[in-house]
Amino acid sequence: MSETRPQWGSRVGFILAAAGSAVGLGNIWKFPYITGENGGGWFVLIYLVCIAVIGLPIMMAEIFIGRTAQNSPVGAIRSLSRPGSPWIGVGWLGVLTAFVILSYYSVIAGWAMHYVFLSVEGGFAGLDKTQVDTIFAEFSADPMRSVFWHVLFMFITFAIVVGGVKRGVERSARILMPALCLMMVALVIHSIGSDGFKPALDFVFAPHNENFHWGPATLEALGHAFFTLSLGMGAMITYGSYLKRDDDLVTTSVTVCTLDTVIALLACMVIFPIIFTYGMEPDAGPGLVFKSLPLAFGKMAGGAIWATVFFLLLTFAALTSGISLLEVAASYFIDERGWSRFKASSICAAVILLMGVPTALSAGTKLFGSGFAQMTSIVFGENNGKDWFGVFDYISSNWMLPLGGLFISLFVAWRVSGEARERGFKSGTKFDRMFWGWVFLLRFIVPFGVIAVFLNLIGFFDLIGLTGE
Ligand code: PHE
Repeated sequence: MSETRPQWGSRVGFILAAAGSAVGLGNIWKFPYITGENGGGWFVLIYLVCIAVIGLPIMMAEIFIGRTAQNSPVGAIRSLSRPGSPWIGVGWLGVLTAFVILSYYSVIAGWAMHYVFLSVEGGFAGLDKTQVDTIFAEFSADPMRSVFWHVLFMFITFAIVVGGVKRGVERSARILMPALCLMMVALVIHSIGSDGFKPALDFVFAPHNENFHWGPATLEALGHAFFTLSLGMGAMITYGSYLKRDDDLVTTSVTVCTLDTVIALLACMVIFPIIFTYGMEPDAGPGLVFKSLPLAFGKMAGGAIWATVFFLLLTFAALTSGISLLEVAASYFIDERGWSRFKASSICAAVILLMGVPTALSAGTKLFGSGFAQMTSIVFGENNGKDWFGVFDYISSNWMLPLGGLFISLFVAWRVSGEARERGFKSGTKFDRMFWGWVFLLRFIVPFGVIAVFLNLIGFFDLIGLTGE
């Protein structure tokens, strides 16, 4: 551990930064649309269980590793295992995952930024469905514009990370997170008055059987728990490594998980009331936020203002998550290679920028879009080909994060010395009686859950006739 290792200014600073990492496109863009696709209520309930029994223990395991080792993922795992141990591969996988996720995350975040501008201009007023769809299709297929917003997002992310842990990451979270919460509260209050609020409450919190199937819904909820809590790739190890050794592991993790969950549910209570008020369908998929919502904003009194607030909120949420992804990549080169923060963050940002260009170009153009999708249909099956974005998203959120999470939990539960595990968990917390519960979940429940996700991905449950209708 070096003498000069940066640290958070305060525990609140850490909580805001970690919650900033967790709260992102996953909460505001993805969670509402997968809730819509899976029929609402039951899915939400399963999701809450997944967060509590799988997400929370892994988050504690990650913060435990970082805080104990005071090092970024690769170095942290090295210092907690024997020399030459293969576990270090988990750290490498995390760094690689950060590059992959941020490369496409930044493109979607760029869309959100573009929509802020469209909203400010009052861009959706009076448009019909075809017009709104066209705006989205034309923009996402326009190479210059998508690349421009992607570059801008990466640049802002870089400019914050280069400022360091306290003056860059923490300071930005201290501004962006309260702003995000305020905007969320304003949007929810606005929704409460609308006709769609009651149906939305019912959709999200009451059980429905329509569009709901236990098997696929459980697996989707579980996979999303990793993505939304930023687990499985070392973001929480990295952020945890800037904590003091006696900071409370339990309360910080519980607070971050709770904030993430509350924001995801509030996002539903903003989006679904709007969708129902304007008579639209909740199961529109990924286009829910970029197509259905603008259509509704266009019809609403003061729609330009509400649209601006909503897309600004989405941008802020994406930014604090993007920052954590770049921090994982950069901290590896700072801690392991001795690079300066400037060199590490600028080179990582540049590489990620280039990796994202095919994603930014993938909607529509032949090279990375439909042409590429034809190629990947060899792997994903006829008619299931994915464009560049689809491949990156699929591999990272379905495979890399759960795999990383599985190994992190196995590492902490079985590999780290029992004494270090117990001392690490108990230092600084008054909830030390939860220790055995945590170890039990990590040892048995987490591996079981993640392996189920993998079996599903390779089609095992279809084979034995357990999923589907
Ligand atoms: N948790 C972020 C979201 O919900 C995404 C993310 C994943 C960020 C992994 C960092 C690491 O959008």
